[in-house]
Amino acid sequence: MIPDITIHNTAKFPKLGLGTWEMGGRSKPDYSRDNLWLKAITFALESGIRHIDTAAIYGGGHSEELVGKAIRPYDRSRLLITTKVSGDKLRYDEVLRSVAQSLQNLSTDYIDLLLIHWPNPAVPLSETMKAFNRLLDEKTILYFGLSNFPVSLIREVMQLTDRPILTNQIEYNVFTRNKGSYNTGMEREIIPFCHEHGISITAWRPVMKGDATLAGQATLAAVGEKYGLSSFQLALNWLCSKPLMMAIPKMSSEQHIRENIEALSVKLDPEDYTLLERMGN
Ligand SMILES: NC(=O)c1ccc[n+]([C@@H]2O[C@H](COP(=O)([O-])OP(=O)(O)OC[C@H]3O[C@@H](n4cnc5c(N)ncnc54)[C@H](OP(=O)(O)O)[C@@H]3O)[C@@H](O)[C@H]2O)c1
Repeated sequence: MIPDITIHNTAKFPKLGLGTWEMGGRSKPDYSRDNLWLKAITFALESGIRHIDTAAIYGGGHSEELVGKAIRPYDRSRLLITTKVSGDKLRYDEVLRSVAQSLQNLSTDYIDLLLIHWPNPAVPLSETMKAFNRLLDEKTILYFGLSNFPVSLIREVMQLTDRPILTNQIEYNVFTRNKGSYNTGMEREIIPFCHEHGISITAWRPVMKGDATLAGQATLAAVGEKYGLSSFQLALNWLCSKPLMMAIPKMSSEQHIRENIEALSVKLDPEDYTLLERMGN
């Protein structure tokens, strides 16, 4: 059973969702492994995953198509689909066109959570938010959020809408705390600011892409052994034990899906949690 978090007293999202980057291609569609991805998404849904994270640009839209196909047999109302408008499509008309395409790709008539994938200084946020406010009014999107946003721009968005920002999706894991690919000060500034304002954090790259550095790190290996968890499971457990925190690992192997769900059922002793708190940049 994957625990939920309640955000702004209104939305309930599970602490663990499924990431889909590289399912269906990188920047262009790749149809060669569709069966593998469909099987993986279906296995995740059958295992109790209800939240799937995708984006307009993943596989040039094909990731959304795969998600749409995989969810078709299931009760849509029980699922939560997050997708994102690319940072280079943030003009008013571009946002509306991107969302129309995402709806078509996903074969759905609404999106649970729409994110601005990354900020773009060339487009005023007021223009982007005008489109987001319209989509929220029309209930084409139920909630909205941000991704890779620093505090200064989160503040700006807060002035441009009376709707709550549901999440800021940022790179965050046991090693990557304050120096990410697109943000700095995640743990020092962004997460405290978001929490102060009731905004959840969605951690992308939560298991460091299955990097061997994580697997081989001595503290993780030793603490993990105590609980019968792999270093990846432990890293995920630490992340998901934080308040208002969700993680969306990309998982295509059935073993990883099973392990990551199981990882959440363990409660770390405070001294072990503290050891993990002290790791990272
Ligand atoms: N907003 C953004 O700018 C942004 C940027 C990057 C990613 N994202 C989102 O965040 C998601 C996650 O990030 P990511 O895919 O870059 O990295 P990730 O989730 O940290 O890593 C995924 C890799 O880790 C492996 N893995 C998963 N669970 C594991 C476990 N328990 N033990 C060992 N290996 C494990 C997966 O293998 P298998 O596939 O073989 O199971 C996959 O190769 C993406 O898929 C995407 O949805 C968002």
